Amino acid sequence: MDVADARAEFRQLESQIETADLDYHQKDAPTLSDAEYDRLKRRYLALAEAFPELAADASRIGSVGAPAASGFGKVSHAVRMMSLGNAFEDHDVEDFVAGLRRYLGMAADAALAFTAEPKIDGLSLSLRYENGRLVQAATRGDGAVGENVTENARTIEDIPQEISAAPEILEVRGEVYMSHADFEALNDRHLQTGGKIFSNPRNAAAGSLRQLDAEITRARPLRFFAYSWGETSEKIAETQIEAISRFQSLGFQTNPLTRVCDSVQTLLAHYQSIEEQRAELGYDIDGVVYKVNDLALQDRLGFRSTTPRWAIAHKFPAELAWTRLDGIDIQVGRTGALSPVARLQPVTVGGVVVSNATLHNEDYIAGLDSKGAVIRDGKDVRVGDWVQIYRAGDVIPKVADVDLKRRPDGAGRFVFPTRCPRCGSPAVREEGDAVRRCSGGLICPAQAVEKLKHFVSRAAFDIEGLGAKQVEQFHSDGWVREPADIFELQTNYGSGLQQLKNREGWGEKSASALFSAINDKRSIAFARLIFGLGIRHVGEVAAKDVALHFRSWEALATAADLARPAALAHRAADEAELQERQRAQSEGRRARISEVRKAAISESSVSSDAQAAWDDLISVDGLGPSVALSLSDAFANAEERAAFDRLLAHLEVIPPDAPAQDSPVAGQTVVFTGTLEKMTRAEAKARAEALGAKVAGSVSKKTDILVAGPGAGSKATKAADLGIRIMDEDSWLDLIGRV
Ligand code: IVH
Repeated sequence: MDVADARAEFRQLESQIETADLDYHQKDAPTLSDAEYDRLKRRYLALAEAFPELAADASRIGSVGAPAASGFGKVSHAVRMMSLGNAFEDHDVEDFVAGLRRYLGMAADAALAFTAEPKIDGLSLSLRYENGRLVQAATRGDGAVGENVTENARTIEDIPQEISAAPEILEVRGEVYMSHADFEALNDRHLQTGGKIFSNPRNAAAGSLRQLDAEITRARPLRFFAYSWGETSEKIAETQIEAISRFQSLGFQTNPLTRVCDSVQTLLAHYQSIEEQRAELGYDIDGVVYKVNDLALQDRLGFRSTTPRWAIAHKFPAELAWTRLDGIDIQVGRTGALSPVARLQPVTVGGVVVSNATLHNEDYIAGLDSKGAVIRDGKDVRVGDWVQIYRAGDVIPKVADVDLKRRPDGAGRFVFPTRCPRCGSPAVREEGDAVRRCSGGLICPAQAVEKLKHFVSRAAFDIEGLGAKQVEQFHSDGWVREPADIFELQTNYGSGLQQLKNREGWGEKSASALFSAINDKRSIAFARLIFGLGIRHVGEVAAKDVALHFRSWEALATAADLARPAALAHRAADEAELQERQRAQSEGRRARISEVRKAAISESSVSSDAQAAWDDLISVDGLGPSVALSLSDAFANAEERAAFDRLLAHLEVIPPDAPAQDSPVAGQTVVFTGTLEKMTRAEAKARAEALGAKVAGSVSKKTDILVAGPGAGSKATKAADLGIRIMDEDSWLDLIGRV
C-alpha cells in the first residue's frame, strides 16, 4: 500500500469514526456495533502507525500521537543532570583518552582506568532518598529543571522505596526503560483495545512514566538501571565501579555488562563484545558509555556546559535502509536559511519509520560537503532516486548514498531555488557560506514564524501553552508578528481569544492560563532573553557567556554600538583575506594574509574605543569573531533593533547570578603565564572559571591576579609595572583550595 492509498483510506475511516462518535456521544443514537467501531479504530490506528505522516493528524481522534500530559510539578535538580558527549569512531575514543591525559597533565603510560557499560536507550530519572526513604523522583527535563514523577516512580518494581545504610541524602540516577518483550505485549494489547501504539520501547517508557494517573504507570512494565548520582550528603565511594556496587548492595539493578578497562584497547574490546550481545539483551541500547573510574580525577576534570569531561558515549554505527526519494521541499529557517528536506517513501530504519531526511544545503544535494570536498563519490541527489538513509541515535536522518542504477529515465538535476519559496525575496549565498538565505528579513513570514517558535521554545522564554502550533495560528491570524506582540496579546485580543471556543485547544480557561503563563515571563533571565532573540550563531552557551559578561541589556547594547565600526573593519578584513587567498592561489604564490588584514583594518580607521569594545566582545569566553559579528549585525539592523526595543519595553531583565560569593576569586580577572606544574592550562582556566573568576589571555589594567610559573616573561614585567598582584602556582592553589 502506498501513502496515497493509505491517506484515502485513512480519511474515510476518520470520517466514519467521527460520525460514529457524534452519533454515540451527542445524539445518543449509536449507528455502529461496538465490534464494528473497534474494527474501524484498530485499522485507523494501524495505518497511523505504518504511515507516520498521517499520524500527525490522528491525534484528532485521540490515542495516537497525543502529547504526553504536562500537568506535573517542576523540580529543580540540586545537581544538574548532564548529557554526554559522543564518540562514533575508534579514533574519537583515542582522542577522548588523549585529551583527558593532556588536561590532567598525565604521561601517555601513566595508569588511567575507566568503566565501560551499555548506554541504555530509555529516559533518565533522578531518585532522591532522604534518611533512606524515597522522597522524590524527577525526570531530566532541561537538565536544570525536570518533572516531578514521584508517584509514578513508586510503581516501578526496580525502584526501592526504602534503602538502608545509605547517606542521609542520596540521589540515585539511572535509566528507565522497557524490555522488548514488554513493549511488544503492550502494543499488542493496545491494538486490541484501541490504545496508543508506541513506535519504539523508549517512547513507550517515556509515555508510560509521564502519565498523570500513576495507576496507568503501574500497569506498564517499566524497569530501571542505576548508573550515576546527584546530590549526596557524604562521599559514596572512591571509584565509579565502587559506587555502582554500592548501588547494587542498596537494592538497585545495575547493568551486568559494566567492566573496568585500563586502556583504549580494552575499552574498544568491551565495546565490541557488547555490540555482539546487543541483539540478545532484550532491551535497547545505543552505545557504550566510558567513565573515568577514579572519582578524584572526575572532580578535577569537571564539566563543560552540559557534559562531563570525564565521560563519553561511544555510539553504535548508524542504521541504514534504502528507499525512494519522492520530492525535495525547501524549508525556511529563522535565520532565513533555505533547508532542503527529502520526502521519502516511509521506511523503517533502526526501529523507527522515517519519511523525511535532511539534505542540508544545495552543495550536499550536488555531492559536496560544506568545505567543498566530494561526498558520495560526487553523486548528486535527484527526485525519483533510490537513496540510502541512515540515522544514529537522535540525529536527524540523512541521505548517505544514491543508487545510480535505479535512477529513473529523465530525472533531472535538482534546481535549487534562488528566491525564497515563502516570500519571494532573493535567496542569496554569501562567499564562504554553504547555505543560501532568504534576504527578506522580517518581511518573510517563514522567518518570522520560525523566530517566534524559537522565542517561545524551552531554552528561551518557555511559555507554557504557547508552542509551535499556537505560534503558527496566532501568526496567521495576524495577532502575533514579533515577540513583543506576545506580551500585548491579552490587551489586544484577550476577549477574542477567550471566545475561540470552537477552535481546537482554545476556550476561556486555556486563554487565561496562557495569559498568566505569558505574564510570568515578563521578568526573564538575561541569558534566556539573549538566546530567545534567535540571533544567528548565538546558541544557548554563547547566550549564557554574553549574559555573564555584560550582565545587563543596556551594557550589551552600548558595547555592540560602540564596537560596530571595529566589527565592520573585521568583516572588511575577512573579505580582503578571502580575495587575497583566491588571488594568491591563481598566481601560485603564498597568500599575504596578515598584511592584507592589517591594511584593510587600518583603511577603516577605527577609533581606539571602538577597537577596545570589539576586543572586549570577542574576548567573551568562547565567543569568537563570527558570533560577535552576528551579534553586532543584529544590533545594527534598524528594524531588528526597533523590534528588540519594543520587546524590552515589556520586560524586566534578571541579571545572571553573581559569581559564587564564597569563592576568594569570584569576579576577579586572572591571567596565567609561564609553565604550570601542578595542572595544565586548560584545567587551571576551567577551575578558575568554575570559581567565578574571569580568565584573560593578556595583562591589562583590568587584570587582578597574574599567576606566573617558571619562565614567565613580558607579562610578569607588565603586571609588575601596573602594580598587579603576582603569585606563583602554589600560592594560587592555596588561595583557591587544592583538590
Ligand atoms: S551517565 C554525568 N550512563 O544517556 C553522567 N548515561 O546521552 C550522565 N544514559 O542523559 C550520564 N545509559 O539518560 C550515563 N550507562 C549510562 C547511560 C546513560 C543511558 C543516558 C542518560 C543521559 C544520556 C546522555
